[in-house]
Amino acid sequence: MKLYTTITSLQNALKEEHSKGLKIGFVPTMGALHQGHLSLVETAGSMCDIVVVSIFVNPTQFNDKNDLANYPRTLESDMNLLATTRCEYFFSPAVEEVYPVPDTRKFDFGNLETVMEGAFRPGHFNGVAQVVSRLFEIVLPDMAFFGRKDFQQMAIIKDMVRQLNLPIEIVPCDIIREKDGLAMSSRNKLLLPEYRNCAPLIYQNLRDAKYLVNLKTVQEIKDYVVNQINATQLLRVEYFEIVDDTTLMSVESWSETGTKVGCIAVYAGKIRLIDNIILDIN
Ligand code: PAF
Repeated sequence: MKLYTTITSLQNALKEEHSKGLKIGFVPTMGALHQGHLSLVETAGSMCDIVVVSIFVNPTQFNDKNDLANYPRTLESDMNLLATTRCEYFFSPAVEEVYPVPDTRKFDFGNLETVMEGAFRPGHFNGVAQVVSRLFEIVLPDMAFFGRKDFQQMAIIKDMVRQLNLPIEIVPCDIIREKDGLAMSSRNKLLLPEYRNCAPLIYQNLRDAKYLVNLKTVQEIKDYVVNQINATQLLRVEYFEIVDDTTLMSVESWSETGTKVGCIAVYAGKIRLIDNIILDIN
């Protein structure tokens, strides 16, 4: 595995792979790697000839300066972890390399960007689209791999690829969980022990919600999950929505057609955690 910090050096190296017609898989990350990321790299390695991983903490997707400042940066251990995988090219550029001039592009994702994460993190998805499109332009992958944990991000990226007509297949990968059910996230490292102990309640309640489908109405399940989690005092639900998996429009009744997903954001102290579960397929 070789580290590249400039666009030119990475592109020169990849030019040869492209010219051989090799299939290039790309895993963009913000670092603080965990098993969830490694499983994306593994899936990329099983579907592609070459795997490129980027680590770049993208400032344009943070709507909260403290969140950006506190985001875990663990480059050395990330590199050690990646060295055990199928990653051949590792790209870790500085902010000025990715944005030599400020990126002023404005994307329009309609309803996809105004609900859930979009409602609570204004500008977040525009920043995600800016950086992912920029990284796609640099790497020119055939396939790109994203975790289903960031369910809304996946919908946004798929829509961005459609809007920009990019010849890139977006491959959704399963959520990887800790033994106690907590969805793996770089932010888990920031949880104080008392918050870490109760964080698995998030997934427990998502599973309860799945069990309760058809026994309770959509609204009853929403209320149940919010009340159960908030009752712990240490956790505070920011939203729990039950949405259609493609349009991300709120679901009112189980009889509606389509796949319904329960998406949640919870504060564990100052740390914000998200998770989701497929509830029902009609
Ligand atoms: O999911 C992430 O880690 C980031 O949002 C991404 C896709 C790497 C863009 O910065």
